[in-house]
Order: sequence, then structure tokens, then C-alpha cells
Amino acid sequence: MNPWLLTYDGFDPAREGVREALTTLGNGYFATRGAAPESQADGVHYPGTYVAGCYDRLVSQVAGHPVENEDLVNVPNWLFLTFRAEGGDWFAPGTAEILTYRHTLDMRQGTLTRFLRIRDPQGRVTRVEQHRLVSMDDPHLAALTMTIVPENWDGALEIRSALDGRVTNAGVARYRELEGRHLVPICGHAAHGVIELLTRTATSRVEIALAARTTLAGGRCRADVEEGWVGDDRTVEVKAGDEVTVEKIVALYTSRDRAISESEAAARSAVVRAGGFATLLKRHIRAWDRLWRRAHVTAQDTEVQQILNLYVFHLLQTASPHIAELDTGLPARGLHGEAYRGHVFWDDLFVIPFLAPRLPEITRALLRYRWRRLPEARWAARAAGYAGAMFPWQSGSDGREETPRLHFNPRSGRWLPDRSHLQRHVGLAVAFNVWQHYQATKDTAFLAGFGGELLLEVARFFASLATCEKGRYAIRGVMGPDEYHDGYPDHAEPGLDNNAYTNVMTAWLMRRVLDMIGLVGAEGVGEQEIELFTAMTRRMRVDFHEGVISQFEGYAGLEELDWAAYRKKYGDIRRLDRILEAEGDTPNRYKASKQADVLMLFHLLGEEGLDEILTGLGYEWNATMAKDTVDYYLARTCHGSTLSAVVHAGVLARLRPGASHPFLVEALNNDVRDLQAGTTSEGIHLGAMAGVAGLFEAKT
Ligand code: BGC
Repeated sequence: MNPWLLTYDGFDPAREGVREALTTLGNGYFATRGAAPESQADGVHYPGTYVAGCYDRLVSQVAGHPVENEDLVNVPNWLFLTFRAEGGDWFAPGTAEILTYRHTLDMRQGTLTRFLRIRDPQGRVTRVEQHRLVSMDDPHLAALTMTIVPENWDGALEIRSALDGRVTNAGVARYRELEGRHLVPICGHAAHGVIELLTRTATSRVEIALAARTTLAGGRCRADVEEGWVGDDRTVEVKAGDEVTVEKIVALYTSRDRAISESEAAARSAVVRAGGFATLLKRHIRAWDRLWRRAHVTAQDTEVQQILNLYVFHLLQTASPHIAELDTGLPARGLHGEAYRGHVFWDDLFVIPFLAPRLPEITRALLRYRWRRLPEARWAARAAGYAGAMFPWQSGSDGREETPRLHFNPRSGRWLPDRSHLQRHVGLAVAFNVWQHYQATKDTAFLAGFGGELLLEVARFFASLATCEKGRYAIRGVMGPDEYHDGYPDHAEPGLDNNAYTNVMTAWLMRRVLDMIGLVGAEGVGEQEIELFTAMTRRMRVDFHEGVISQFEGYAGLEELDWAAYRKKYGDIRRLDRILEAEGDTPNRYKASKQADVLMLFHLLGEEGLDEILTGLGYEWNATMAKDTVDYYLARTCHGSTLSAVVHAGVLARLRPGASHPFLVEALNNDVRDLQAGTTSEGIHLGAMAGVAGLFEAKT
């Protein structure tokens, strides 16, 4: 087995979506799913292309109410390329018998190869080989080649190459009721062997320009321009055994790009000036080589090595050094699909620790994304009656709260209120990431500048969110990382009090702010603020019960779930929230967590770090309590998020080595084996991918 290759043999319609997601090629600026070039969205295939930071908002009617959503836009499909033998149908899914099919992702080189032998209804056998890349060297370029060999026929061979702007956002079945037509066609052109398509997004009005140069030696060309579609067809005469190669070089620009006059002209001149496939490939491999030298993670086992290569590969394709020039955060599901609409959550908390020591220019760029949205976060804090900056749980273009108000339970068919925006801890993740970046770079200018500003504004927010009650600082009405608890079963108002993760991390934050002030001074910070920050390092409230940390105040009073009975009845109970809701019940009644919540503290702070904070807060804490806490939540977590296995694998490896292995296996297999109920086809789980890579490095 070659750990740099991911190979699929045969074609399985049920697994095509996962294959497309896992064979996505990208360069940080844009990414394209590994879809068959001859396919269109049809329920099996989904050729999506996404440009970092290119969002659009549309209003849909949900359960009789207007709901506005912002999506990462599926931009026009540049891949489209197919052929037909004289008198036959265009090759498309289902039109020919597949005799051989092999799909290979080369992660070291960043290329995708497809090899097919097909027989058409007339008995003509044709061999097809395709290679593609999305250039890591020039982020605006992509290329696709196709070699066709007629094995047992002669005659006219026609090739069709197109740019298809009639695509919509329709990659996630659950969202199909929602409006997904984000692209407005502007114009298409075809001249001198180059086709061009210009569209714009419906409400954010970003122009997206694509130009493609298709070359085929000896081919006659006929162009075709329709609304939202530009294609050109070429014909050559072939004899059995001939080899015909067609090359499609593509450039993609948007009106947001720098150093351009306008996007269409930029795409046109880029594609005219670009070299052929071989030249682009050489530069692309060199760029990947440079990246791998900085980010390769090793494991002893070849199969594990292959998975690690795959995960780091997808991480680098989403957060590549090219994002240093862009204004983009890290979509939780990569640029690989439409789940969560391309929104940015707290998941960079799992990515930045991995990237900061290796590629700090990328982590800096991700933090700049947050910093540019400080005014919005400040406004949100002010509007809610707080100081500082309140970052949104889900963030998109301008940093406003993008968490939908309703979410759908496919099990019950009901739309339900979504309260996950109460996960205020996202700001703590921003602060943690600032500190990780500082620790990796020791860049005091960063700390004295925008990094410090982020840290301070988040600290101000948490200082104002906390209330001093009987000598302890309490935080009420929030949610922790465990999304299955969004309130108390008997309260009308959502939110929980004194989530241990939020409170302990707030104490951690106050310590770091004071460290920062010690390092770069306290300009603009008042005496009273410093006093408050200091007091919060000593007197944040944390609840305990039965010798363990309580996930939140009142947790001890919840009922125990009959885990065995639910496992027996439902098998996979990761989505316990959906199961209980469909039964007319709610996880809020039970000691049952979706994912690591209290255990996140061990993951981020380590045993010593947690000990320092809890004892600093004046609580009794020791190694036995630490182990008991881990065991307690281990027995009460159903791992409904891919992040959970990663955290458990790491924490258990240190505290309960015997129990860690199954979580490590799960964390490794999350996306390759699509463990989270078929969600990989809707996009990779980037936080989990980076988190696993981080674990391995720590281990080997
Ligand atoms: C998890 C969150 C995560 C989000 C995006 C959810 O399922 O519970 O912690 O941020 O997915 O990855």
C-alpha cells in the first residue's frame, strides 16, 4: 500500500458522495469536489466548487415563516468535459456499461486520476483516462486532461467542454426545501478557443468569472452560449487504437480579488497566459512539496499514515498559505461540501494548534478573519447588554450571528428552535487560538497589536457576562460544547448556568490577558478592569458533584439515561437528540452529552493546566478527581460530533491508556469510513481531521 495514494476501484452510486468529498482538490482559494467531469447534480453526483469567503444570503419560507440563510456559494462548474462516438449519446452517468473504473487521489502531488473502460450500447469500447489539479502554485488556475482511446471503433469523436453556471446549492438533502439559487448569469463568450462565463451572486453581488481554454490537436470547434452555460464542441476523426488527448485549462477570479481590473478580463488573460497541463503540474507539485516539508506528520503503520496524509492534505487544501491574502475563516466542513452552509464555528480550535507551529502565516490569516469582524462582535455584545466583543457561534461573510433559528430533525420531520447560538464559548476559542499563535511565534508585535486586541475584547465580554454572586463569578444562560443540553427541562428560557467548560476557560482567559499585559503593557486597560480580571482568575464558579466536575449547575439533578436500552433499540445512538425528540422527549432531562464538554478542559489545558486553574480558584482537586471526572463523562457521552472521539482519544491516552484505542480508531476513521451517519459526502470534518493529526504527532 502506498500511503500517498487513495484508490477506489469500481463505481458505487451509494458511496459516490463520500468519494467526491474525499477526492476534492483545492488550494485555499477555491476547491472542487472529485466529481466525474461528465456528471451534473443528479442525486448521486454533485460537482460542487466553492471559493473561500464567497457567501450569499437568500430568504426561504420554512414552516410558513421567512428565514434568511447565508450560504457558501456553489459557483459554476468548471469541470464539465465529456465525449461521444459518432452517432452515439454523450457519455454521461448511466449511458454506457462500465467495464473498469478506478479513481486515484495522489496526496503528495495533489492530483486526481480517473481511469475507465466503457462499452456503449453499440458495443464500442472506449478507454478514458483523466488527470486533474487545482493549482497550489497559482490559486486561480485548475486543469483537467482527458485521453481517449477507441479500442474497437473508427469514426468521428466529439468532445464537449463547458462552464456550467446553472448549478445551485443543493448538496445537502436536509436543506433542499431552502432557497439555493445563488447565481445570476451575466454573460458568456466563446472566441479563439477560449470560453468564458460571468455570473454574480444574487445578493452579495460578487462577480465570478471563469475562463477555459480547451485544446485538442486537429479538432474542429463549435461554440455554444446559453444563459448560464458556455460550451464548445470539437470533432476529430479517430481510428481504433488512436490516442486523443484534450486539455482544459481553467482560470477562476471573483470581483473580490486584488490586483485585477475586473474579474472577467483577469480570468481571460490568466487562461491565455497559462502554460499547458505539464507545466502547471510541475509547478503545482513543487508547491505541494514545499507544503509537505512543513506539515507532514508520521505514523508507523502504513494504513494510519495514509489516513493522516489524507487529513493533512484536506486541511492544507482548505487552509493553505494562499489564504494569507484572503479574508476567510475556516468553514467547519472545508471547501468540500455544503453542510453547515460553509459557516465558521469554533472548530479552528482544533486546527490552529496544529498549524501554528508549522505554518503560522495561515493561523495569522485565520485570526485576521476574526479581527476584521471585531466591530460586528462589539456591536453584538453591546446589543445584548455586554461589553467587549461577543463572537457569533456561526460566522460567515460579515461576522454577524449566522446560526439558523430553526433546525430540522429528519427523524421526526419537525423544524425545531436552534439555540446553539448560546455557545458563547466560541470567543474563548478565539482567545485560545490567539495564545496558540503567540506561543508558536513569540511575536510580541502580534500580541501588542491585533492579537492582543482580540484577547482583551473577548476578556471584556466574559468579564461583563459574569455576575458576582456570593463571592463567586457566575455565568448564566449559556450553552457549553455539548449541544444536546440547551436549557433546563423545567425552564421556559433556554440556556444553562455555570457551564464548567465556559467558566474554567474564562479563568484561563483572564490569566492570559494578565500575562499579555505583563508582556506588552496595559495601554487602554483601566485599573479596575485589571482588578476584575485578577479576581476572576481566583473566583470563577465551578460546580462539583460526587467528586467530579459538574458539566453545569444542576447537572447532578438530571436523570440517568438507560444507555443499554437505547443502544439495544436504536443501535447507533450518536444522534440521541433526534431520537429523543422524535419520541417526544429531550436530552435536556438526562445526564447524556453529545460530545466532550468537561473533557475539553483536559484536552486544551492538560492535567497540569486544569489543576493549576482549579486550585487557583480555591477548589479541592486531585488526580483521583481528574480520573473520576473522565470516567464519569466517558460513560455519559454518545459522540454525536466527530470532535468527540478526537478529544476522548487524546485525553484517555494520558489518563486511561487502556480505554483510548477505540476512540483513536474512530477518530481516524471518521471521514474515510464516513462514520457520522453519512455526513462526509456533505463535506469533510476539518476540526476532527486536524485534531487527529495533532494526536499522532504527539504520540510518535
Ligand atoms: C458540533 C460542534 C461543531 C459543529 C461544526 C457540531 O456537530 O457539535 O462542536 O462546531 O458541529 O463542526
